[in-house]
Amino acid sequence: MQCTEILMKEHETILARVSQLEQTLESKVSENIEAIDKTIEFIQKYADEFHHAKEEDIYFKWMIDKNPMFEGGPIHCMLDEHNKGRSFIKTAVAEMDKIKSDPTHSEEQVKESLTNFIDLIRAHIDKENNVLYQMAEQVNADVGDGDEIMLPKFQSINEPTLT
Ligand SMILES: [Fe+2]
Ligand SMILES: [Fe+2]
Repeated sequence: MQCTEILMKEHETILARVSQLEQTLESKVSENIEAIDKTIEFIQKYADEFHHAKEEDIYFKWMIDKNPMFEGGPIHCMLDEHNKGRSFIKTAVAEMDKIKSDPTHSEEQVKESLTNFIDLIRAHIDKENNVLYQMAEQVNADVGDGDEIMLPKFQSINEPTLT
């Protein structure tokens, strides 16, 4: 499906950005505040509000509509991972605020939260590309209306503008 290709391309964009973040985290957080803030903004607006929303509101819903059995197993697991990611980012934002108001505040927790996010999103994307999206492709091979139903919805969502 074109929809699967679009989501996989977005995965590449996300993976490239988290690899950059991983490199940035090798240096001191206090010396990279702007770069880390921009990456967090990318994760919130692009990875979550744009990409994850498309999965949750359109792609996963289409899968469940075709086969309700998906809801309890693989999709539940993916939604749970989206929520775990949100929680890591929420902690990272709070810790960044503490570092900004007190440069002597420990950098350990923000580094840990972002590293946890990087590990989670890499494993998550791997599962989607190789398992979940392949299940969707299988469903589409049988019913064939994936792009017809989902593509117009995908196209109605604009890519976010980032600072
Ligand atoms: Fe996902
Ligand atoms: Fe995804």
